[in-house]
Amino acid sequence: MRNLNEHNITDEVVRRFENTANPRLQEIMASLVRHLHAFAREVNLTEEEWFQGIQFVTRVGHMCDDKRQECILLSDTLGLSQLVVAQNHKRPSGVTEQTVFGPFHLNGAPHLAPGADIAEGVQGEPCFVSAYVQSATGQPIAGATVDVWQADTDGLYDVQHPEWHDMKLRAVFETDQQGYFRLRTIKPCNYPIPTDGPVGDMMRALDQHPYRPAHLHCMIQAEGYDRLITHVFVEGDAYLDSDAVFGVRSSCIGNYVRHEPGVAPDGTRLEVPFYTLDYEFVLQPLP
Ligand code: BEZ
Ligand code: FE
Repeated sequence: MRNLNEHNITDEVVRRFENTANPRLQEIMASLVRHLHAFAREVNLTEEEWFQGIQFVTRVGHMCDDKRQECILLSDTLGLSQLVVAQNHKRPSGVTEQTVFGPFHLNGAPHLAPGADIAEGVQGEPCFVSAYVQSATGQPIAGATVDVWQADTDGLYDVQHPEWHDMKLRAVFETDQQGYFRLRTIKPCNYPIPTDGPVGDMMRALDQHPYRPAHLHCMIQAEGYDRLITHVFVEGDAYLDSDAVFGVRSSCIGNYVRHEPGVAPDGTRLEVPFYTLDYEFVLQPLP
């Protein structure tokens, strides 16, 4: 077919892809083309605007390397990541909700003993976490693998610190026979997502702040259960209602309780105020 015009080009592109061997790929590509063309029609996209878009996407790609994932950041800040999470992990009430993974998880974090301090040598307010992992039917889940990771008080993850060469503020724990895991860390702080790339430029152009409310990341894996990727947010944080990546669930807000100096849950005496977080995770059984 030739002499295509602005009215019939969409149908022709979709028709050409009709013989795609993989039916799911065909479905996705047909829908993508229809929505992309509808978008260009709806906003009456000019050639200059189209080229600005091309340059933006090119910069997003160039910004990515093994430590920086600007594509995920773009998906996160457009709400696409949370949409995909929500539609793939529907949860009955009472089961812990899933949130965005984010770009700062690392495989291979150290496996630490119960109660270990993941913040050794890092400044911050001490925080003692005690968490219970159970099934939706109320049974404790023993032997679950729990990855935790968080930013420091400057809002940076270890991989973002040019002068840090080892992993900090991240570790893997295992739940005990009663379904508990415990650790020491520092109280999480809110922080801006990276703004030194094209996504930061986009946020500024849209007059959006880049902050995420304070949180501890957790990924919990146990045989027979859907892998849980979630956060424990800090009650009262100023950004709970305007998370730059749309990840806050009311059911994922934890009560980090402040204590005056004294004996901490691990039996040590602290001369500074400290926090405790007692929390429960409920895992969804696999069908
Ligand atoms: C995070 O919480 O680590 C994160 C999530 C999405 C984008 C940037 C950071
Ligand atoms: Fe985070």
